Formats: sequence, C-alpha cells, structure tokens
Amino acid sequence: MNTVIYYFTGTGNSLKVAKDLSQYTEDTAIIQIRQEKLSHQLFTDAKTIGFVVPTIFKGIPKLVNQFINHLVIKDQSPYIFAVSTHGDRNGMGIVSKQFEELLAKKGFHYQHTLLYKCRKIRL
Ligand SMILES: Cc1cc2nc3c(=O)[nH]c(=O)nc-3n(C[C@H](O)[C@H](O)[C@H](O)COP(=O)(O)O)c2cc1C
Repeated sequence: MNTVIYYFTGTGNSLKVAKDLSQYTEDTAIIQIRQEKLSHQLFTDAKTIGFVVPTIFKGIPKLVNQFINHLVIKDQSPYIFAVSTHGDRNGMGIVSKQFEELLAKKGFHYQHTLLYKCRKIRL
C-alpha cells in the first residue's frame, strides 16, 4: 500500500476530507483511528502517511495522540502530511505544534500541515 490516510472523526467532516484527499493519492487505504486499534500491533510501511483529525479544544484529540505514539512507521523517509479540520477561524490552537512534537519523538518530520475550516459538510 503506497498511501495510508488515518482519520479520526466525531461528526464526519474529517472523514469527508480524508475521502476527498484520497482521490488525489494512489493505492490509498483510509483507516479510522479507533480505541480498540491501540490493543493491537500498529504499523505501516506506506511511503505516504496522512493524518486527518478535528481540532478539539485547541488541540488534537487524546486518542489521536495515543494512536500516533503507538504507530510503528516502517519506511525510513515517508512523506507525512497532517490535516486538521476546525470550526473556529482562530481555533487551531497548538495542533501543528502537537503534530510536530509527536512525529519528532518518533524521529520523523512532517512535510505539510493543513488547517481546514469546516462548515457543516453534508455527507
Ligand atoms: C468538543 C468539541 C471541541 C471543539 N473545539 C474546537 C476548537 O478548539 N477549535 C476549533 O476551531 N474548532 C473546534 N471544534 C470544531 C471541530 O474542530 C470541527 O467541527 C471539525 O470539523 C469536526 O470534525 P469531525 O466532523 O471530523 O469530528 C470542536 C468541536 C467539538 C465537538
């Protein structure tokens, strides 16, 4: 699998964004970030890794934090991007910094973050 997009969603916006993005990437798997996945070995050998998550109280959801900490990234230099959907124009808080720190702890650096202000998306 060349590309994996991990998403977390409460009201569907981040899933919609993940699906839209997957139209522009090859051989892509879209995988939901779920609690029960933390009890399994989590790894990816994808060359492109994306995270699409909502901004919750000016940061990334706690489960996303745990998931990224748990995830084993096998490729030595994957292309990593992060998208944070949010509702309030100035509400992104520390999302970018959190992604940077989480990935840096794993020895990686992300290439792009995108903050995506969502109106209510009709699925
Ligand atoms: C509990 C909660 C907290 C939120 N906190 C913020 C916030 O701090 N800043 C912001 O811009 N949007 C905030 N939002 C809005 C969400 O980030 C936005 O609606 C997002 O698109 C939801 O994505 P989802 O549909 O994938 O869950 C919050 C939404 C909820 C439900």
